[in-house]
Amino acid sequence: MDWNAWDVEAIRRHFVFPQAGRVVTNNAASTQPPRELLTLYHALAYDYDNVHRGQSSASQRTTARFESAYDDIARFIGARSRNSIVAVRNTTEAHNAVMYSLLAEFRDGDNVVTTMMEHNSNYVPWYAMCKDILPKFGRRVEYRLARFDPLTGELDMDHLKSLIDRRTKLVCCTGASNFFGTKNPLADVRALAGASGYVQPTGERRSYLLVDGAQLVPSSFVDVQALDLDYLSFSFHKMLAPFGVGVLYARERLLESSPPFMYGGDMIAEGRVFPEHVEYNALPWKFAAGTPNILGTIISAEAMRILLDLALTPGRLRHFATDKPIERATVEAAMGRVATWNRELTGRAIEGLSRIPGIAIYGPRDAARRSALVAFNVAGRSPMDLARSLNEAGVESRAGCHCATLAHHALKLNPPASCRLSFYLYNTREEVDRAVEALVAIVVRGDRGMASGRQIGARRNPLPPTTNSRYGAATAVSVY
Ligand code: ALA
Repeated sequence: MDWNAWDVEAIRRHFVFPQAGRVVTNNAASTQPPRELLTLYHALAYDYDNVHRGQSSASQRTTARFESAYDDIARFIGARSRNSIVAVRNTTEAHNAVMYSLLAEFRDGDNVVTTMMEHNSNYVPWYAMCKDILPKFGRRVEYRLARFDPLTGELDMDHLKSLIDRRTKLVCCTGASNFFGTKNPLADVRALAGASGYVQPTGERRSYLLVDGAQLVPSSFVDVQALDLDYLSFSFHKMLAPFGVGVLYARERLLESSPPFMYGGDMIAEGRVFPEHVEYNALPWKFAAGTPNILGTIISAEAMRILLDLALTPGRLRHFATDKPIERATVEAAMGRVATWNRELTGRAIEGLSRIPGIAIYGPRDAARRSALVAFNVAGRSPMDLARSLNEAGVESRAGCHCATLAHHALKLNPPASCRLSFYLYNTREEVDRAVEALVAIVVRGDRGMASGRQIGARRNPLPPTTNSRYGAATAVSVY
């Protein structure tokens, strides 16, 4: 890519956080909203009314915008139509929705396969289903956890293959780990799930595949049909919109055959409620019980539109707040550029961080194999303290288990925690360097960091030891 064509300064002009002097490198948790989205939120209030529940012109206009948001979301991920889109609050709710939709279909002796590198939201619902819910109905269903390679942070495909069999109803897999950053080989996972021979109630012979796209969709081109996904989840708060909206994509056939997972309101066919009989609404509204997050959904679709614009023409918004159809080629070009910029930043961060004595960087060394985040520990240092010191130096990170608790335990990290820097399209190379230099100062010189641009710490510690069982340099993935 011609980096001169990636005008990061033009992109940053759409955001307010640079004015506050913030180095925002906690984007895997949540991204920042462009100012245009906030302005639009205000502007939409003039026309605001409920959707599908009013005869006013305002209600008609808001309904049209709301429905068109579903069309935009479908086009962004390559779904056939809005009928495959379920708007939820976040990725976690999407996984729970799949669990509740499939709950009654699991047969005694079935299993669900997920992985040790999942976010808790793609493990705990399956744990709860197998351990808490189905046993109450006398059904035994097992969950199985595929390992990862502790040295590379890559999914152990042989182990995954060994876990999938003719009783595997569902395979769950993250598209990109929020701890290792690893992008999983989804086509290969699809092939394994597709060959299981499980007989679904639809007559299909294969295991369904649920991909957690929370870290993948915001910065990659994803095509649900090309990948032949059964389910895909993601959240808009990681792709510029801060309004508590997420998506569950599901193949239309599955949504048609599944029961709703929430009942009431818009999921009912108009007027079709009787003492003995209730009819459900047509897709996608069969999965839209109750008044939805109306403005959040509209704004989230606009966030996708402005994301395309920022990636392609940040000086001129061509898709944002227009009716221009979202073309697949446009999405592919834009998200390809976002992925390439993220790779540049991630590679630079890995290179810089790897010079720090005692650091353990998790996940693949090659930035091309990972999403835009780098999690690490430094021998003898608490990741929480590192994150606090980085914050004092003006660099925003996140320390904790990132809800990837199984993976932290598998690496024997005690406490189960790491510090993580994560990037998005508006981050600069200079910000990556500043984060690395801040960490060098904290680790090597013992600086506490900078407050309001002023160094408040003094040299504190000598060089840390190079191995330490508490924060895992001895057990971790790549020790530099
Ligand atoms: N799960 C999100 C993260 O990785 C919030 O930070």
